[in-house]
Amino acid sequence: MCGIVGYTGVKDAREILLDSLELLEHRGYDSVGIARFDSETSQVCVDKCVGRVRDLRRECEQETLSSTCGIGHTRWATHGAVLEKNAHPHRCGKVTIVHNGIVENYRQLIENYELQEQLVSETDTEVVAALLDHYYHGDAQRTIQKVAGKLKGTYALVMMFEDQPGVIYAIRNVSPIVVAECEEGMMLASDLTALGQFTKQYFVMPEHAVLKMEADRMTLVGFDGNVVEPELLTLDWEMQSLGKNGYPFYMEKEIMEQPDTFMATVKNRIVNGLPDFTVDGVSDEALTSCKRICVVACGTAWHAGLMLQALVKSVLHMHIDVELASEFMYSDPVINENTLLIAVSQSGETVDTLEAVKYAKQKGAKCLAVLNVRGSSIARESDYVLYTEAGPEIAVASTKAYTTQLAVMYLLVAKMALLRGEYTVEETRHYMEEFQRVPEAISKVLEQRKEIHVVAKNVLEAKDLFMIGRGMDYSTLLEGSLKLKEVSYIHSEAYAAGELKHGPIALIAQDVPVVALVTQEKLMSKELSNIKEVKARGASVVLFIKQSLAEQLKEDYELVLLPDLEDKFMVFPAVVALQLLAYYVSSDKGFDVDKPRNLAKVVTVE
Ligand code: F6R
Repeated sequence: MCGIVGYTGVKDAREILLDSLELLEHRGYDSVGIARFDSETSQVCVDKCVGRVRDLRRECEQETLSSTCGIGHTRWATHGAVLEKNAHPHRCGKVTIVHNGIVENYRQLIENYELQEQLVSETDTEVVAALLDHYYHGDAQRTIQKVAGKLKGTYALVMMFEDQPGVIYAIRNVSPIVVAECEEGMMLASDLTALGQFTKQYFVMPEHAVLKMEADRMTLVGFDGNVVEPELLTLDWEMQSLGKNGYPFYMEKEIMEQPDTFMATVKNRIVNGLPDFTVDGVSDEALTSCKRICVVACGTAWHAGLMLQALVKSVLHMHIDVELASEFMYSDPVINENTLLIAVSQSGETVDTLEAVKYAKQKGAKCLAVLNVRGSSIARESDYVLYTEAGPEIAVASTKAYTTQLAVMYLLVAKMALLRGEYTVEETRHYMEEFQRVPEAISKVLEQRKEIHVVAKNVLEAKDLFMIGRGMDYSTLLEGSLKLKEVSYIHSEAYAAGELKHGPIALIAQDVPVVALVTQEKLMSKELSNIKEVKARGASVVLFIKQSLAEQLKEDYELVLLPDLEDKFMVFPAVVALQLLAYYVSSDKGFDVDKPRNLAKVVTVE
C-alpha cells in the first residue's frame, strides 16, 4: 500500500515524480505529495493535496521551481483521516520523509521522546521524521540506523536531509523498495511499475541496510558497516503493456488479455502434452514427498486456492486446507515438515501472506509460491516459485492474475496426479488436451461481451444481489461476487445454493436479483430446484450456464450461455463472464473502475 518514489539525477524531478506516482496510484489514491530540493536555494519544497496525482499536477503547474532531486508519495490512509496535513511527505526540522507501512509503537515513541509539540499530523510517519530530526547531527547513515532500531512494525522509508541537497536515503523492513540506476539518474519506488519506463535492470533493496542515492552513484551499507552488493534482476514485462491500449479502463484491457496471459503462463510448462516444471526447477520430489497441502492467500488469490482445493480433492484424493493468510497463524494451524505450503499472491508483497509463509517455514514446511512479480518478498522466502505470466496488472480488481493462478494450479494438479499414480499418462494427456482448450473458451466469452453488457444493465439499480451455485460453481461465484462488490459497490453475496434455505433466503425479494451459475452436470438438478425456490419468492434470476446444459431452460430464464468444456475446467469461461458483468456494472454507473474506493492494489499492512 502507498506508492513511494524517489529520484535524483539530471532531469526535472517534478515530471518524473508525478509520472511515476501516476503509475503507482493503484497502491493508494486518497492523497498525494512530492518534496523536492530547489536547485537554486537547496531548500526543500513540499507540495501535497487530498485527491489524485492529476490534482497535484494541476497545483504544481504554475510553479517555477527547478529541481533534479525529490521524493513522492500516493497515500492509502492508515493513521489519520484523508486530510492534507496527513498526506506525505512529512517534514520535521531538517528531515523530509515518505513512508509505506505501519509503525506500531508510534504512540510510545511520542511519549518517550516528548515529540507531541512538534507534530502537526495524526500519522505514525511524522513521528519517525521527528525522531530522525531529534538524532540527526550530520551523519544520516548512523541516525537512520539508530532510529530503525527503535521502530516496531513494517516500513519502507525514503528520506531527504535538508543539509544534503541531491541526496536521498532509504531503508526498509518488510515493505518493499525496488531501485534502479539509469542514464538520467537514480530511481527508487515501492513497485516495479514505476521503474520500467527507465530501465529493465533493478534490484530489490535488502533489509538491514541503508541506501544512499546521489545523482551519479549509490551506496548500500549494511547495519554491520559493510557495503552490500545488490543482486541485479531483469524486468521481463513488456512496458508497452502498461498502457490501456485504447480501452477506457485497465480492467477491461486486462480481462481481454486473458487468452494470451493463459497461454503465456502454460506454454513452457507443457512438454510432449504433459505438465512439466523443469523450467521452474520444481523437483518431482517436492510434489510427491508432501503428505498434506495447505494454501495461504488473500482475496482473489484465496479464491484461486479454493479452486485448487476442489481439484486436489477430486483428482488427487488428498487432504488440503485453504486458509485466509490473515487468520492463518492465529488459528493454530497443523503445519510440519510433511506439509507443502502453497502461497498464492499476484504482488508477492501481501504482508499477511508473507507472514504466513515465514510462520510455516519455521514449522518446517516447504513453501511453493504462485506469484506474478519476480523478486518479490514472498519469492525470496519460498523454496520454489511458479510464476504466472499475467504481466503488469494495474486495475485494482484482479482478473488476469486470477486466471493465470488457476492455470498454474491446474498444471500442478495434473503433474501431481501423474507422479502420484492417480492418472495414467493417457489420462493426463486427455486432461491436458481439454486444459489447452481454455483460451478458446475464454475468447468465446469475450466475443459475447455485448450480451453480458445487456445483463449488466438489468442489475445496475440493485442495492443487494445474490450469486448462487454449487460445488466448483460456488467457488467461482465467490470470486465473481468479490469483483462485483469491489468495483460496483453493490452488496453482493455468493452463497452455496443449497445453503440459502438455512437463513439468507429471508433476504430474497423482488428487488434482489440473483445470479445463478450452473456448469456442473452432476449438481444441476439440485441447483435448478434451488433456483426455483428464489424465483418463487419473486427474485429475478440471470442464469450463467454451460451451453450443453441449457436446453429447455431458454423459456424460463434470462440466460448467458458459456462455451462447453469438461465440467472441471468451466471456472475459466464462467469467471471471465462474471468479470465482464462486474466491469460493465461499474463503468455504466460511471465509477472509476480501476480505482475503487478504499482499496489498494498491494496490501502491505496486516
Ligand atoms: C481483488 C483483489 C484482492 C487481492 C488480494 C491479494 O480483486 O485484487 O483481493 O487478490 O489483496 O493480493 P495478492 O494476490 O497481491 O496477494
